[in-house]
Amino acid sequence: MAEKNWSQLWLDYSRKKHDSSLECTVKCEGFSEENRVINSAVKELKAGLFDSSLVVIIKKNEALSKESYSIKGGASVEIEAGDENGALYGAFHVIRSAMTGDDVSKLSVSKTPSNPLRMMNHWDNMDGSIERGYSGNSFFYEKDTIIVNDRTRDYVRFMASIGINGVVINNVNVKWAASYLITDRYFDDLVKLSELFNDYGIKLFLSLNFASPIELGGLEICDPLDEKVIDWWKDKIKEVYDRLPGLGGFLVKADSEGRPGPFTYGRTQADGANMLGDIIAPYGGIIIWRCFVYNCTQDWRDYKTDRARAGYDYFKGLDGEYHDNVILQIKNGPMDFQIREPVSPLLGGLTKTNQMLEVQIAQEYTGHQIDLCYLIPMFREILEFRTYCQESNDTVADIVSGRAFGNKLAGMAAVINTGNDFNWTGNDLAAANLYGFGRLAFDTDLSSEEIAREWVRLTFDLEKDLEDKLVEMLLNSREIYERYTSPLGIGWMVNPGVHYGPSVDGYEYSRWGTYHRADHLGIGVDRSDKGTGYAQQYYEPNASAYNDPNTCPEELLLFFHHIPYTWKLKTGKTLIQHIYDSHFQGYEEAKKLAEDWKAFEGKVPERTFNCVSHRFEMQVDNAHEWCDQVNSYFFRKSGIPDEKGRDIF
Ligand code: GCU
Repeated sequence: MAEKNWSQLWLDYSRKKHDSSLECTVKCEGFSEENRVINSAVKELKAGLFDSSLVVIIKKNEALSKESYSIKGGASVEIEAGDENGALYGAFHVIRSAMTGDDVSKLSVSKTPSNPLRMMNHWDNMDGSIERGYSGNSFFYEKDTIIVNDRTRDYVRFMASIGINGVVINNVNVKWAASYLITDRYFDDLVKLSELFNDYGIKLFLSLNFASPIELGGLEICDPLDEKVIDWWKDKIKEVYDRLPGLGGFLVKADSEGRPGPFTYGRTQADGANMLGDIIAPYGGIIIWRCFVYNCTQDWRDYKTDRARAGYDYFKGLDGEYHDNVILQIKNGPMDFQIREPVSPLLGGLTKTNQMLEVQIAQEYTGHQIDLCYLIPMFREILEFRTYCQESNDTVADIVSGRAFGNKLAGMAAVINTGNDFNWTGNDLAAANLYGFGRLAFDTDLSSEEIAREWVRLTFDLEKDLEDKLVEMLLNSREIYERYTSPLGIGWMVNPGVHYGPSVDGYEYSRWGTYHRADHLGIGVDRSDKGTGYAQQYYEPNASAYNDPNTCPEELLLFFHHIPYTWKLKTGKTLIQHIYDSHFQGYEEAKKLAEDWKAFEGKVPERTFNCVSHRFEMQVDNAHEWCDQVNSYFFRKSGIPDEKGRDIF
């Protein structure tokens, strides 16, 4: 077979299994081997386990819940599972254990996924480009056609191996060609793709253009309460489900950044979502409605229309009105995937509505998969955050798993970081985020370190000291990135549009705005009750803690407050000195990462070594530029010199 021009990521069985003709024995009890998912589980076990004397029994156990499994080692390894997906996840668990060097005969473990929905959102466009893509082009599309090939199959295997059970294959900004995904032009190819997904227990989802009645149907409006519009959708969705019966449903971005939506007709977000929800319900489909709704043309000088407030302002008032098969997808923070933001107050702010968490592993604001930025620690912080929406069971993990309010529709989604590069993620080390998101969504009790170590062990064959080193590099990387870019919750300061590299005053939507609102006396946005009032969108005691600069967690200080440069932080340092020190430190640490990577030469595949080395060089340049620009900017603004007398121009 010709060599594949894509890597096998963490499922490179050939690394462990030198003779691929040796197969372990797999038996099924209570499951049919003809079943497509069971068939995949059997194939993976045979391909992935390198001990050919091993016997694995996959058994149905009605007492286990959906997608759950329990594994018992011994003379043979038994995987009991509640359903086919559970069996597949159990199979991957055994393979993972074998590959990381555990003794599978000693396995004794039971797992139920923490979240019912564990999804990847692709922002791939039909022309093959990817919005916020940093790893080449799409492997789903080329020149407005859909691609289904061996690479797609590997992609699906990788996703199932980390527990993903739903994938949205097109950009939330549904541009022209993608509107046609729900027409005859694409159904045959979508069926092929959806079957491949189904082989590995994954449901296919599509992003939907809310203005389809206009763009495809020739109607003049797309008012969700208009009879003609409703009839058009009824016919369309019937046609879609006739052709694609396994479709999971639709993801919708409405009324945001130029996308059409119900606001145009004086309707609410609930009107829009429920109209589609009702029509899709008889087919078992769901509507995932994004809460990233804000007015991007707002005047930055108007404090009252603080962008951070928008999600809560638009959605909270409608809590309880969304129908059962509608779920709101909420970005982790109120702004836009910054290196640090407070948790969105909508999470748990809504108590009567299905909700899921949206994070971004595509490193849009976190280094474009050039700079190393392992995001799992950030996701853990978000999941652990106590919202105080009720007395107990009130963390984000409780809410998005459905436990807090008893929702069946609940979960986590990530904007994915893949493309058709050989290594899938641009930077080989960015695959830790791809792997990590899936593992965390499946099991929110896993620590960032466990996930990092697991990924390192599966991906490379390193001696213990280098394994530890790489895990440490991953674990420190987010804070390093934060230090040389935008510490204390200030965010942004990136080149507008591109979102990489510093532009301190860079503001997306007008020439005059800034996100940081710095003047000669201080920096930060007053979101207290004396400012935009955003802090009041939280429950107590969070609201009061955020409201006061003395109790606000320092890492979010400038998100919530406008602070004088001379303000003393808890370390005793002034704010301005902290800004200088943080940037110098972050730059030094970026250099250290690049230096540390040199020890991996000859220890990881040459291709990986070279790719990552090159990215570290770029990261060092980036950190240098950030450090210079941010420090000179604030020196010039404040007129206060660095206490340590370092060069700031
Ligand atoms: C960000 C990003 C856009 C994207 C949007 C979204 O603003 O820059 O490219 O479309 O988020 O989440 O919809």
